[in-house]
Amino acid sequence: MPQVRVHSDSDAAAAAVAHDIADLLITGQKAGRNVVLGLATGSTPLPLYRELVRLHREESLSFRNAVTFNLDEYEGLNGDHPQSYRRYMQVNLFELVDIPRSSTHVPDAVAADPDAACRAFEAAIVAAGGIDLQVLGIGRTGHIGFNEPPSGRHTRTRRVVLDEITRRDNAAFFGSVDSVPRAAVTMGVDTILGARRVALLAFGTAKAEVVRRAFTEKPNADCPATWLQEHSACTYHLDPASASLLKT
Ligand code: GLP
Repeated sequence: MPQVRVHSDSDAAAAAVAHDIADLLITGQKAGRNVVLGLATGSTPLPLYRELVRLHREESLSFRNAVTFNLDEYEGLNGDHPQSYRRYMQVNLFELVDIPRSSTHVPDAVAADPDAACRAFEAAIVAAGGIDLQVLGIGRTGHIGFNEPPSGRHTRTRRVVLDEITRRDNAAFFGSVDSVPRAAVTMGVDTILGARRVALLAFGTAKAEVVRRAFTEKPNADCPATWLQEHSACTYHLDPASASLLKT
C-alpha cells in the first residue's frame, strides 16, 4: 500500500517533495548521471514548482542533469497555446531554472501520427533509463495523469477522451467548459507504475473522497488511482483536508 504523509499544509507537502527531488539531483550530480523526473500539471504541483525555483535561486540547486517527462497534454494544443501543459511547464518551472530545453519532454498532442508519437514518447522514457521519481496529482474522477475511468492496469501512453467532470474542473483555466479540449494524450497506468518512486500530492476537501477511494477500493479501472496500491514505493503527500476521510 502507498505510504501516507499528512503535512501541516500544501506548502509543507511541497517542501518535502522538493527536498526529495533536490536530493536525487545532487546525488546524481556527484555520480555524474542524469535524474529522470516525471512531472504533473494542474493547480496541485504549483507550490512544488515554486519551491524548486526557490531552491535554484537561493540555494543554487541545479537542474542541469534533470531529464523530465510530463504526464499529459491536451489534444490539439501546441506548446504556444497559453493553456497547454508545455506552456505551463515553461512558465512555472523550465524557464526559471537551468534545465536544457532538450531535456524536457511533454507528450505531442498535435502529431500527424498520434500513435507513432505515443510510441516515441514511451521509447524516450526507456532510452533515458526510466523515471526515477514520478510526481502525480489526482483528479476527482480518480484519474492520474489523464487516465480517466475506465483505465486498465496495463495501459500505456495513448489518446483518451476526457470525463465531463474533468472538463468542468478545468473550465476556469479556459474561460468556459466548451473551450476545454475533449481529449488528451496521457502516459498510461503501466507507464506511471514503471517509475521507481511515485509521489502523489493532493490538497483540499474536494480531494478527500477520491483519496479515500484510492486507498479503500480494490485496484480497479473505474478509479485508476487505485492501481497505485500495486506500487512498492508510492507516497501520498496530503494536507489535513485531503486526508480527512482516511482512517490513519
Ligand atoms: C489535471 C491533470 C492531472 C492532475 C489533475 C488534478 O487536469 N491532467 O495530471 O493531477 O487533473 O488537477 P488539479 O491539481 O488542478 O486538481
